[in-house]
Parts: sequence; C-alpha cells; structure tokens
Amino acid sequence: MYISDLTLSAFRAHDDFKISFGERINLITGPNGIGKTNLLEAIHYLCLTKSFVSARDATAIREGSDEFVIRGRFVDGGTQSRSVSLQYSKATGKTLQVNKATVERVTGHVGLLPVVVFSPDDYGITAGGPEERRRFLDNMLCQASKTYLADLQNFRHALKQRNSLLVQATSHTATFRSQLDAWSSEVVRHGARVINRRRTDISLINSYLHDSLEQLGLANEVPEMRYRSVPVGDVDRGTSSGGRDLSLEEIEERYFEALVEAGSNDMARRRTSVGPHRDELELFVNGRPLRNYASQGQHRTFAMALKLAKYHYLYKLCETKPILLLDDAFDHLDPERIAGYIHLIQDKLECQAFITTANPGVIESIVQWGDPNRHFNLSVMIGALEKE
Ligand SMILES: Nc1ncnc2c1ncn2[C@@H]1O[C@H](COP(=O)(O)OP(=O)(O)O)[C@@H](O)[C@H]1O
Ligand SMILES: [Mg+2]
Repeated sequence: MYISDLTLSAFRAHDDFKISFGERINLITGPNGIGKTNLLEAIHYLCLTKSFVSARDATAIREGSDEFVIRGRFVDGGTQSRSVSLQYSKATGKTLQVNKATVERVTGHVGLLPVVVFSPDDYGITAGGPEERRRFLDNMLCQASKTYLADLQNFRHALKQRNSLLVQATSHTATFRSQLDAWSSEVVRHGARVINRRRTDISLINSYLHDSLEQLGLANEVPEMRYRSVPVGDVDRGTSSGGRDLSLEEIEERYFEALVEAGSNDMARRRTSVGPHRDELELFVNGRPLRNYASQGQHRTFAMALKLAKYHYLYKLCETKPILLLDDAFDHLDPERIAGYIHLIQDKLECQAFITTANPGVIESIVQWGDPNRHFNLSVMIGALEKE
C-alpha cells in the first residue's frame, strides 16, 4: 500500500498544496518551519484519522480558516486504489470519506492503512515514563485489531464515568455505591479484554523486536519486553498462575478483586488506581532494565528497533505493508548508520517511506547511499506555488 497523491487545503502551513509521491523512498527537504512535518502529519491523518503531533484537531486548521481538508489516493498492488478524504471543521467536527462514502466509525477505517512514525521523540518510549510505552503499545494494537480498538474505547469511556462519579460524590450513599458497582463492572468487562490482548500479543512483538535488533546489526543485544498488569499480578503470560495461562474470566475475576481491594483508596483519591491505564511495559536488554542501564546511543537504537518491530507486527496482522514516516529521524545518526537504515528500507522492507530532514549532511548521506524515488525540496515547491 502506498500513497500516490496528497492534496491539502488550509492545513497548517499549507494553504492549497498538491503533491505526488513515489512508491518507495520520498525525501522531503527544506529549511525548518517550511512544512515538512505538516506533510507527514497529513498522511498520518488519512491513515488513522488523527495527528501524531497534537491531540487537538483545531490547532491544525490554518490560521484564518474554519476548516482543513486533506485528500489522498492510496494504491494497493498497483491495481486497486482508494481515495480518502478527511475534513475537520470548527463547526461540524471531523468527516472521513473513503471513495466518497462517509465512514461513520473510525473502527471501520483504522488498520486498513497501517502507518509507523519514527522521530527523535521516540527516545521517550524507552527513556520516559510508562504512559509513553502504553501509548506505543496501544497504537500498534489498535491498528492491528478493530476489537482491541473498540475494547479500549469502551474501557476509557467506563473509566471516565467511574472517575467522574468518584469526583462528584459528596457522601457514600447506597445510590452512589450501586452506581459505582455498575461502572466497576463495565471497567472490568472491557479492561480485562484489553489486558488479555496485550498479554497475548507481547510474545509476538518480542519475537519481532529480536529480529529488528538483528536487522539493525545488534544481534548480541537480547531484548525483552514484559507486560506487567497490576490486577493480574505478574510480568509474563503464563508465569502469573504457576505456569498456566489465565483465561479471560480469570483476568476479569482478578481485576474485579483488585478494584474492590483498592476501593477505599480510590474513594479517598477520587480516581481509579488499578487497570490497563496504569499497567507497565518494561524493557530489558540482556536481562537488565533498559531505563537504568542503557547509554543514549542504546536508547536510540532500541527505540528504532521498537518501531521496526511495530512495522513487522503491523505488516503481519494488517496484511499490508505499513507506510513509514521518518520525521527528522536520521538527524542524530552518523553516515554509516544512515546507510544501514536506507539499505534496510530500500532493499529489505521495500515499503513506501517518507524521510524529512533540514540537515545537509543527512541529505548527502541519503542521496549517496540510497536511490530516493522522489526528492522534494519544499522551499522550492512552496516558493514556486506562491509565485503563480
Ligand atoms: N494552524 C496553523 N496555521 C498556520 N501555520 C501553521 C499552523 N500550524 C503550524 N503552522 C506553521 O507550520 C510551520 C511548521 O511546519 P513544520 O511542518 O513543523 O515545519 P518543518 O519543515 O520544520 O517540519 C510553522 O511555520 C508554523 O508556524
Ligand atoms: Mg519538522
């Protein structure tokens, strides 16, 4: 799957902008602030109906306008093509159309056009707090499974309701307790499914992580990701119940018990303290926690490997090659490393990739080592458009 054409109107720095892409490596250059990341963000919007830059869609509307429109054509196997249009208006919100038909639920679209973003911020996945790792995991599972996406949405809704009940309560009356019980059941029902899927998929992701480090030339680093769910009790699938795997019903039971146990604490703090929203994804290299022991360089390589593992995982589960968005991702790498990544993308993954950079050294390395399908210099293109 690749995107062949993109049209933007009133999207961030771009007023009216049209561009056609190559099937493989697209190099996007130009000075800082010209709108390179904006282009990647627009592609991401078409794939997942949301930005990777900001959670607030309104910030992406060009100053002085009331709505933005992004249109793209996606081609699969050279024959089938799909036109996707995403409009966001201050008045009416978001409208997604595929082949001119309005898509009512995002679950019907997410996963059809898988995408993986690489950026220097990925450092946060390995070096930052648990929330960034949960977001990483959720993003890949949501793209891979509509059921997971729906379970996560339902869980978040139930959690929000339970938390607002805890915040609003002035006294713990019988009515309050029965409402709390009702929302606890909902939280457990959907939350247990989220925990279950995370536990199931972690071993598959681990095997791709292993392959990815090998692909990056670090076969002697043995990586491991462990998922620790507080309600369920332990790190690995299988070890928490004496070598036996837990059924969904058992996860539900344990989660419910954990919620009951945390009851008075939750009421005092006025929020739900246990569940998938607080679980941890721990990263290890050669048996040692990455967070405490890794050098900066190891963090960067590991973050790259995680994203590469995400690519392989999504390719397997979505059955189509994800598009890679590499936003300034090579800017801290030496020419040899860049050559390695270009070789990997061009000759091994053979997928569509977008590489942005403002760094002349990086451009030189990419052009030297690779054969970019297309090279766009945005400063020239935007300058030319303005002159018309
Ligand atoms: N809503 C908006 N309206 C107009 N311009 C915007 C908006 N949001 C961002 N920009 C502009 O977009 C530019 C940033 O584009 P970006 O793609 O991040 O640049 P870069 O080429 O450095 O990646 C900035 O000049 C910023 O002022
Ligand atoms: Mg940028």
